[in-house]
Amino acid sequence: MTDSTPPAPAPPNTASGAAAGSSGAPRSRWSLGELLDWTQARFAELGIEQPRLDAERLLARAIGCNRITLYTDRDRLVDDDARARFRELVRRRLAREPVAYIEGTRGFHALGLELTVDARVLVPRPETEHLVDWLLEDTQGREHAAILDVGTGSGAIALAVKHGRAHFDVTACDVSPDALAVARDNGTRLGLTIHWVDADLLQGVPRPPDGWVAIAANLPYIATDMIAGLAPEVARHEPRLALDGGPDGLRVVEALLDQIVETDALAPDGAVYLEIGFDQAERTAAMLRARGLAAATRNDYDGIARIVRGRRPPA
Ligand SMILES: C[S@@+](CC[C@H](N)C(=O)[O-])C[C@H]1O[C@@H](n2cnc3c(N)ncnc32)[C@H](O)[C@@H]1O
Repeated sequence: MTDSTPPAPAPPNTASGAAAGSSGAPRSRWSLGELLDWTQARFAELGIEQPRLDAERLLARAIGCNRITLYTDRDRLVDDDARARFRELVRRRLAREPVAYIEGTRGFHALGLELTVDARVLVPRPETEHLVDWLLEDTQGREHAAILDVGTGSGAIALAVKHGRAHFDVTACDVSPDALAVARDNGTRLGLTIHWVDADLLQGVPRPPDGWVAIAANLPYIATDMIAGLAPEVARHEPRLALDGGPDGLRVVEALLDQIVETDALAPDGAVYLEIGFDQAERTAAMLRARGLAAATRNDYDGIARIVRGRRPPA
């Protein structure tokens, strides 16, 4: 894909001569407040959604301070090394790299998981927290349960479930070995034991003797020809394999549902929890009903049905 982003202008730096003081001479001294304002303006010009917040996060990272310090020490002058670090971070953001990749981490779920993320995995989204909450509510009080996260990416769902239910057996798979490496590292760093499996949907994932109590899946669900029109942060930087749901967006989801039925994957009363796109809830619910599962939906923070649950009837 070609990159139409203009070359990244350098943050104020005498070497580039990019900015001048009131006398017209190049500026050599910049305060935290000035850098923040300058960067916010550049980000806003480019249409970046949260220009102030992004500028704060990157400057705080370059300086090695928290965001509050940018305001309490607004007039503090920034040394050359810190400014060079900041220039590099700003250059990446101007190329529309997501802040989560630049920072290398993303918080996920109220349980407070800090996940390492990079270009090998999708940046975990707040919508996905609803899927985790629903699954945790449904399994409350169970002494044991085998849970599977299909298309685990950074490991977000599997790790949040294990964090909330330490006594459950949690398995997670992904068809991308790169993603699985990120997930594995997150599990190790967080001290959460997950059975990681390199697998295309359910193929090669050992079925527990009584079936899965819950299968969670935030699989790719964007229609192929919609991807180019997404925000540059997504279209240019997130893995294609995490986005592309085929011509109608639901090819991978449908293949999973077929495999669930063919392999009798769910335990009696077990359920599959699917995250889907803003206009896919009805189609997904119909797919579930056609396979003998009772469908229900849950809304995201904007009131849009984004999670669909398909429950197998009790035995
Ligand atoms: C939308 S991302 C979701 C990642 C993570 N579950 C989350 O919620 O942040 C979809 C993930 O599914 C994986 N995936 C795509 N096709 C797959 C398949 N056929 N089998 C297993 N995983 C697949 C991708 O590699 C990607 O990591």
